[in-house]
Amino acid sequence: MSLADHRISSTLAAATQPLRGVAELVVASRYPETRPSPEPALPAPSPLPGDAERALALPAPRALESVQRSLASVIAARRSGRLSAGALDAATLGTLLAAAAARPAGLADATLDPLLFPVVFDVDGVPPGAHRYDRGEHLLAPIGPASRARMAETAILQREHAMGAAVLFLVVPIGRWLVAFGDRGYRGAAFAAGWLTDRLYLVAETLGLTYTATGGFAPAVVDEVLGLDGRDHTAFFAFAVGGHRQPTSREAPRGGQPR
Ligand SMILES: Cc1cc2nc3c(=O)[nH]c(=O)nc-3n(C[C@H](O)[C@H](O)[C@H](O)COP(=O)(O)O)c2cc1C
Repeated sequence: MSLADHRISSTLAAATQPLRGVAELVVASRYPETRPSPEPALPAPSPLPGDAERALALPAPRALESVQRSLASVIAARRSGRLSAGALDAATLGTLLAAAAARPAGLADATLDPLLFPVVFDVDGVPPGAHRYDRGEHLLAPIGPASRARMAETAILQREHAMGAAVLFLVVPIGRWLVAFGDRGYRGAAFAAGWLTDRLYLVAETLGLTYTATGGFAPAVVDEVLGLDGRDHTAFFAFAVGGHRQPTSREAPRGGQPR
């Protein structure tokens, strides 16, 4: 069916090129012939890497409600930036990872959710290396070694993003997205990953950390480090996190003592 024939065409048809071309694509994607199958039989979720036998239970996440900051002030202060050196504690890492416990209301199928795979460099009480976060049990299943030097040299394109305490990779079940929604599944995967990234940003800011989202990594190398096949699951995005933010000279009280 062309745009001109469609009942919702009147508004879109008024669009001029190139918007009209985009509108044609949007309308075309409403029809089943553009999808692999109207009700695709999704394959069973594939097993995930990580040694469940040696999984590490994380301390309970911090109750962020007790932080005396309004959401508006957290949003206003949120700023991607340089990572500070210094270790995090396991509860802080666990609080960040617990951002993945919530999910967008419109996304019915939990098997499509992005997963967090932290590569830990400097977190007290957590062995360095690649891990899979199990959000149901709030534990870390170890995958294998992933030293700071190896990640900086082979996987992370901006060295400075490997100089923090950890990099949280957002892993998406890209195969399921594409089987379920055709090429538009890629957009769904990106929306879901973006939604979780927003939460990571706000939790990291609330905790007073240094952080940045980053797409600057070699996905095939990271997939190998994380034990992913790159087809059912792949590393899609990343959130690098460093130590606590030092107060600027304007924020520091007189006498130079940090707050
Ligand atoms: C999709 C996406 C990809 C990004 N990739 C990188 C990156 O590869 N390297 C980097 O230094 N920052 C990256 N960033 C962080 C941006 O540089 C940062 O969000 C932007 O400068 C706006 O700053 P703000 O987050 O403080 O508002 C990325 C952010 C997003 C949303």
